[in-house]
Amino acid sequence: MELRGKVAVVTGGGNGIGRALCRRFVAEGAACVVVADLGGDAAASVAAGLGDAAAALEVNVALEGDVVRLVEITEDRYGPIDLFCSNAGIAAPAGGVEAPTEGWQQIWDVNVMAHVYAARTLIPRMVDRGGGYLLNTASAAGLLTNLGAAPYSVTKHAAVGLAEWLAITHGDQGIKVSCLCPQGVRTNMLLGAAGDAPDGDPAQLAGAVVLAQGAIEPEDVAEAVVAGLADERFLILPHPEVLDYFRNKAGDYDRWIGGMRKLGRGHRRRRRRCRRGKLGRRPRPGGAGAAAR
Ligand SMILES: NC(=O)c1ccc[n+]([C@@H]2O[C@H](COP(=O)([O-])OP(=O)(O)OC[C@H]3O[C@@H](n4cnc5c(N)ncnc54)[C@H](O)[C@@H]3O)[C@@H](O)[C@H]2O)c1
Repeated sequence: MELRGKVAVVTGGGNGIGRALCRRFVAEGAACVVVADLGGDAAASVAAGLGDAAAALEVNVALEGDVVRLVEITEDRYGPIDLFCSNAGIAAPAGGVEAPTEGWQQIWDVNVMAHVYAARTLIPRMVDRGGGYLLNTASAAGLLTNLGAAPYSVTKHAAVGLAEWLAITHGDQGIKVSCLCPQGVRTNMLLGAAGDAPDGDPAQLAGAVVLAQGAIEPEDVAEAVVAGLADERFLILPHPEVLDYFRNKAGDYDRWIGGMRKLGRGHRRRRRRCRRGKLGRRPRPGGAGAAAR
């Protein structure tokens, strides 16, 4: 898909990867980009910086009514949506199965159900008009895992599963689907997790592991997305090494699990040493390949 002249919606467009996508889509000549975000001010500020080609809407993608409203308002005002990017996501709660049930439900609603609501609302409309494009942001954590963050890893696996199911089931009806799976990207989500959480907190482990593996900028992700959309490729991997990790995992699952356990032990050891004031050796990027945000 070429973006010139297209109507696109980007959820989570107020910050980070979503903001970079909005800016890049406008630079590519999109007719209209709707910046949708829970943070109305953030969305408005991104849209204001993009001039007439952008508009802002405050939405909570965890609510089906809000997603339906987003689609209806966009199509009424700007015409049929060519590209819908389900990009909004959250990382909390970190930790394992002990994370509170309400936290599991919240991350499930944002990282998975929001993609279901968008597909459910848009696919019938897109099929009626001969096709359309869905770009779903999952994560390398959806192909691999994120050490220290079970709710994030599990919901991102579900997001990958949904995207591939939609691509298989609706491809013959003209529905194109791409699944974006970055590893570390320098946004509030990653930098906040690595920096704000108290030492030893699972959120800090989750963020620190990803940062140590080398994070890229949101603009690099937007570059990979534009290339992936042009090729109409299902899997968009801004970190090409993720494909090698994914192949390693599929080739020998047990060996990969062993490598990930070792990586987790190394990070926990290093953080303990840092807390005791000894400067730990920086882990080499990549490792067993890999934790992902
Ligand atoms: N940053 C990374 O390292 C990384 C890596 C892989 C995947 N991702 C994924 O990329 C996507 C964007 O993340 P980011 O790093 O740009 O994060 P970010 O925190 O910088 O931006 C996320 C945006 O989503 C919005 N949002 C959150 N919940 C929402 C809701 N219920 N409704 C509407 N908007 C909501 C936030 O207000 C925020 O503006 C997420 O799905 C994330 O899981 C991020």
